[in-house]
Amino acid sequence: MFPELTRDDVFRLETRRLWLRWPRMADASAILRLAGAKAVAEMTASIPHPYPSGAVEPFIFAMRKGNALGEHLVLAVTPRDRPNELIGMIGAHPQASGRPFIGYWLGTPHWNKGLATEAVQALIDTLFSLVEIEAIEADTRVINPASRRVLEKSGFRQEGSFLKALPARGGLFPCEQFRLDRSTWAALKSWGASGWTPAPPEEIPDEEACLA
Ligand SMILES: CC(C)(COP(=O)(O)OP(=O)(O)OC[C@H]1O[C@@H](n2cnc3c(N)ncnc32)[C@H](O)[C@@H]1OP(=O)(O)O)[C@@H](O)C(=O)NCCC(=O)NCCS
Repeated sequence: MFPELTRDDVFRLETRRLWLRWPRMADASAILRLAGAKAVAEMTASIPHPYPSGAVEPFIFAMRKGNALGEHLVLAVTPRDRPNELIGMIGAHPQASGRPFIGYWLGTPHWNKGLATEAVQALIDTLFSLVEIEAIEADTRVINPASRRVLEKSGFRQEGSFLKALPARGGLFPCEQFRLDRSTWAALKSWGASGWTPAPPEEIPDEEACLA
């Protein structure tokens, strides 16, 4: 699903405050520390808690391998001025429906600064620009208002609720499903580019012009 461009580890996405790049083995300790926090892991389907230290390097290897094969696109979220410092991760994964599924997390010290929204919007732009897809999907646990807000701020709308298997949590949990259609994205992008400008004031003809 993912094009040649993203299959090389020089691939980068740059936003106002972030660089999104392929994860590296040197990120292992940051992933262990940040994804190892219960507050992060418990909202995800696949991050174990506690995070076994031996699981991080195989995880990074698998993410890099999948990126290289175009099977998924998983990126480290880093501050733009410190691209060696991983502060979170974001990824897009193909689904049988043909609509990729996105997931993300940030370390707790970096929450509530708009960074996840910035990263999600960069990934959305990339997916719609590089891949012929009609929509992107995501879901959140019902107890995760921050993630719901990230999706809403990025144009997603809720499609419904369902019980989802979250393997690392050990069971089925109530989740909300979200979707962003290409047409909605395109409309939001064109609004963003032109902005809203008030209509010009009506011209009031001066008296002389009326008499002439
Ligand atoms: C979800 C997560 C990525 C959000 O990251 P973030 O960088 O803090 O997100 P942003 O700052 O871009 O946006 C968060 C929004 O949620 C809002 N928010 C945060 N906590 C909230 C709460 N308890 N109730 C309601 N809104 C909340 C913030 O105010 C902000 O909205 P605003 O910009 O309108 O004020 C982060 O909390 C996280 O990693 N959580 C654990 C893993 C996770 O949930 N991943 C997603 C799995 S679906």
